[in-house]
Parts: sequence; C-alpha cells; structure tokens
Amino acid sequence: MSICIVVGTHWGDEGKGRIVDYLSQSGDVVVRAQGGNNAGHTVIVGEKKYVFHLIPSGVLLPGKVCILGDGMVIDPTAFFEEVRLLEQEGIVFQERLFVSEKAHVVMPYHRLLDGLYERLRGKGRIGTTGKGIGPAYEDKVARWGIRVVDLLHPEILAAKLQPVLEYKNWILERIFSHPPLSYEAILEEYLAYGQRLQPYVRDTSRLLYEAWRTGKRIVIEGAQGTMLDLDHGTYPFVTSSYPVASGALLGAGMGPVADVEVLGVCKAYTSRVGEGPFPTELADATGVYLREKGGEYGATTGRPRRCGWLDGVVLKYALRVNHITSLALTKLDVLGGLSMVRWCYAYEVRGEILEDFPMDPSLWPLCRPLYREFEGWNEDISGVRSYGDLPRAVRAFVESLEDFLGVPVVLISVGPRRDDTIVREELW
Ligand code: IMP
Repeated sequence: MSICIVVGTHWGDEGKGRIVDYLSQSGDVVVRAQGGNNAGHTVIVGEKKYVFHLIPSGVLLPGKVCILGDGMVIDPTAFFEEVRLLEQEGIVFQERLFVSEKAHVVMPYHRLLDGLYERLRGKGRIGTTGKGIGPAYEDKVARWGIRVVDLLHPEILAAKLQPVLEYKNWILERIFSHPPLSYEAILEEYLAYGQRLQPYVRDTSRLLYEAWRTGKRIVIEGAQGTMLDLDHGTYPFVTSSYPVASGALLGAGMGPVADVEVLGVCKAYTSRVGEGPFPTELADATGVYLREKGGEYGATTGRPRRCGWLDGVVLKYALRVNHITSLALTKLDVLGGLSMVRWCYAYEVRGEILEDFPMDPSLWPLCRPLYREFEGWNEDISGVRSYGDLPRAVRAFVESLEDFLGVPVVLISVGPRRDDTIVREELW
C-alpha cells in the first residue's frame, strides 16, 4: 500500500490531525486535497499544541513533503499566518511545502458574502465557519474563480478580477446594502500574495504522480467528515467540498489506483459544530461531560460542539461511501468515568427500524436512536500502549464495533499527546 486516505466518519473533528501525524512519521508525502482554513487539525507534541487550518499537519515532521492540493481553496492571509507561526517555531519547510497552481483562492468578497448569506438564511442558516469557503467553491463551479496560478500573472489577475468584482459589488450593494469593495486595493493585495506564493507554487498532481511511481508513501489528510460532504452529507448542512475518500483522490489530482488504504477516523462519541441533524445528540449532563472532558470547542471558531453518543448508523454509512478498509478510534479515554457507555446501531422512525442514515430531511427530526449499552470504566487508560492491557469493558466496547462493522480498529487514541496511541496493526 502506498496511499493512505484519512477520512472523517462523521461531521468532522474526529481527531484526524493526530492520526495523520502518526502515519506521516513513516510516510513521505502529506497532502490536503479539499477544503480550506475551515479545518482545524490539532497535534500535541510534548507540551506544545499546534493547530493547523491549511498546511498539512505533517509539516511538523522534518523532511516530509507537504502539499496543498488542487481541490483546495486557499486564503493567502491564512496561509501566510501559518507560515509565520511555523517560522516562529523554528520549523524548516522551504523546498518541501508546495501549493497547487490549480487550487482556488479565497478572496475578500468570499469571506464577506459567507457571513451575509448566513444572515439571509436566517433560521435556515448552515452555521458555517465564516471563512468564505462556500462562496469560493461557488465561484469555482460558476467559473468565476481565481486560481493560485492567476496570482502570478498581473495582467491575468487584473482581467479576471474586474468582472467578478463588478458582479460581487452589485450583489453587495443591491442585495445587502453593503459598500462596494475596491478593485485597486484587492488587486494590489493579491498581486503581493502572488509574489510571496511563487516559491511554493507547483503542479502538485505531477509531484504526487512521481512520488507514487517511485514507491513513496502518501498520506491524504481529509478535512471535515463524511456527513459534511457536499453530495453524501446531510445537505444542505454540509461544507462545499468532498471530504469522502473519492474526493481525496480527485482533489489530490490522482486516479483510483489499486494500492490505497482508506482509514476512517471515528471518535468514541460523536460531535457536530454548526446546524443540521444529529440523531444521537445529548442535551443532558452526559453531553456536557463529553464536551468538557473532550475539550469539544471548535479549533477554528471556538464554538462549543454539540456532543452525543457514537452514531454507528452514520459510521456504517461512512464505511460504505468511503470504502473504509480500517478504522482509527479516537478519544476513547474521554468515555472513562461514565457508569455506562452506548453506541447507536439503528433509528426507530414511526415504529419502523432504519439501519441506514435517511437522506430525506423530513425524517431527521423523527429518528429515535436505538442503542447498544455497555458497562463503563473508571480506569485512566491514557498510559496504556498495548491493546491487551485495556480494561475488559473498554475492549468489549471496541470489539462490539468491529463485529458490527466487519472492519478492524487498527489504531486507538487514548489521550491527547502524539504518543497516547495504541497500535494494533501497522498500516505500512
Ligand atoms: P463551511 O465549511 O465553513 O462552509 O461550513 C459548513 C459546515 O461545515 C458548518 O456546519 C461547519 O461548522 C462545518 N465545518 C466546516 N469545516 C469543519 C471542520 O473542519 N470540522 C467540523 N466542522 C466543520
């Protein structure tokens, strides 16, 4: 296996950052393929906590090649802020951090419109991160988008920006009564970004092809999660890109090669930030317990995350749409201290049992989760490094999931630090 795609099984925030960090230690190339700085991937090394929004978390490991791929939308302001933080930490990344020339650029009007669209939606708002991600993808599809390569050519950027901005200003003024944005100011700002970006810009799909051809190990770091996928998630409460495994290849500029492992990252409970259905959400003390013990506050927006029991119906769906071949179960330690723990295996809707996640939104409020229940544990498992040393109750929980899904749990994270990981099976 030379490619490992890391996908979130639920609504994001599954703990993918630290799993990618673990895999990257024995990998060669780490790629982000979709999304932008709406993501927040946290890695804790020693006493230091790093949060990445754009740059692949593999950048912390010396010598690893890191790629911001074709399918991403990149806000240069956010990119250079991360570059600054890396420099401040003394992390050397020159000649190993690359940005796709095909990636799209998040412009100031995207950020502005993201907030204005949400206001317009009122009660039906999505609860976006406000980073301009949706409006940037909207322009990409409408073929108004500005790509990274355009920033390198003043005459091309000037010509492309002019009609788009005219249109955006029309919307800003007429629909939102917002003052127009200045063409000259944006052009100047983004040309300057182009000059600074130049050393990083490459045909990254070619770099990846060469890496694959020469047997390098490639980790594709999914952002968000299956249920936030534009096609396969809980539409319209989704992001505007494709966090599923096939989206990872598409966004990396790669085809469906045979030697791929799809590692699903699933948290031992479920969380969601933003609006939309969440059948196993807990509005009680257990929900609060999970949020506080699990530190479930958005890494990008600081918003408190909604928390609930692990939704196995969603997990089974994620298994199918991603063709997940193995699982990483994260934050298992957070469940410690509860008298009993549960996961949901089906929903009951008007007396009928649903084993698949319904995509009919009229059914979402009616889904009543049905649970498998297990005895809890009080032991602190964060020091455990071998699966056999986990308390019996913990193993019963893990193995019940494996039986239900028919897929092995190969990695288990039992604490926030890089080393707090139980490896049951090496992926490469
Ligand atoms: P957007 O991606 O900012 O347009 O937000 C759309 C939806 O995806 C909102 O519900 C966000 O809270 C959610 N979302 C976007 N990125 C992430 C992420 O990295 N983790 C969790 N939720 C996310």
